[in-house]
Amino acid sequence: MKLQGRVGIVTGAGSGMGKAAVDEMTAQGATVYAVDLREDALAEAFGNNESVRSFAADVTDSARLAEIISALEQEQGRLDVLVNAAGVSTPNREKQQWVDGINHEMIQAAQEGREYHPDFLSGISDEDFQRVVEINLHGTFFMIREAAPLLKQTGGSIINFASVAGLMGLPMPAYYPASKAAVVGMTKAVAAELAPFNIRVNALAPAGINTAMFAASGEDHMQALLALQPLKRVAEPEEIGKTVLFLASDESGHYTGQTFSPSGGAVMV
Ligand SMILES: NC(=O)c1ccc[n+]([C@@H]2O[C@H](COP(=O)([O-])OP(=O)(O)OC[C@H]3O[C@@H](n4cnc5c(N)ncnc54)[C@H](O)[C@@H]3O)[C@@H](O)[C@H]2O)c1
Repeated sequence: MKLQGRVGIVTGAGSGMGKAAVDEMTAQGATVYAVDLREDALAEAFGNNESVRSFAADVTDSARLAEIISALEQEQGRLDVLVNAAGVSTPNREKQQWVDGINHEMIQAAQEGREYHPDFLSGISDEDFQRVVEINLHGTFFMIREAAPLLKQTGGSIINFASVAGLMGLPMPAYYPASKAAVVGMTKAVAAELAPFNIRVNALAPAGINTAMFAASGEDHMQALLALQPLKRVAEPEEIGKTVLFLASDESGHYTGQTFSPSGGAVMV
């Protein structure tokens, strides 16, 4: 058991790669505090898993995150692993449909050899930009800040979710790559700051992973992404759960400040 006796906290745990991370960690002996906006998703995902304690919370609410860490400290007395998987690609469903429409137009034009210049910039309101950056970047920062004092007591591992969108130049609404590139930068700074406490900090920058977020972005988007990948398949969230387990465990003891890209080779670092 790679995480026997260890305690973790995972955000975005109700779905996709966050859920897969919790499943892998608890299967290897960890107790995990699962955090997600959606209480129903947490109940469905972990109703039968006795190693999980679920907390409905918005990662943009730093006071609520502090409460959860405080409960964890009182109940467990230690924290070994923090996984920041909560994230969104658009601020809401309506904006997702708007992005899908433009993606569809872009792909169709490319297939027909027509010129088409997408306009994402003028369609992004102040509130849209703020909401995505608040969830993906501020939420990740809040969680790290609140968890660090407890992690420092034992040493541990932090795993942040970035995206290939933060590493490559792809036409899309700028809030997403802006937030994810910032997560990569923050990962390096925090890795340097926390190394003296034997806390390792790494990031994952996935491309197409078969989750609710990816399905919501539509078939067109999937085909366009696969065209960029030497490995022509979408990965399953369980595969990424295993990478999280590796980064959470002592097996990855000499890796810190790194960004690993499960992207079928779309990004080769
Ligand atoms: N799926 C992909 O292809 C892909 C590619 C690159 C990066 N990512 C990143 O990986 C991470 C996990 O994505 P996924 O594909 O598993 O997504 P997902 O949509 O399946 O799961 C994300 C979870 O985060 C939760 N969440 C959203 N906003 C929240 C908030 N404000 N507070 C708390 N929880 C919140 C959702 O309820 C959901 O359960 C995200 O950060 C995402 O940006 C995903």
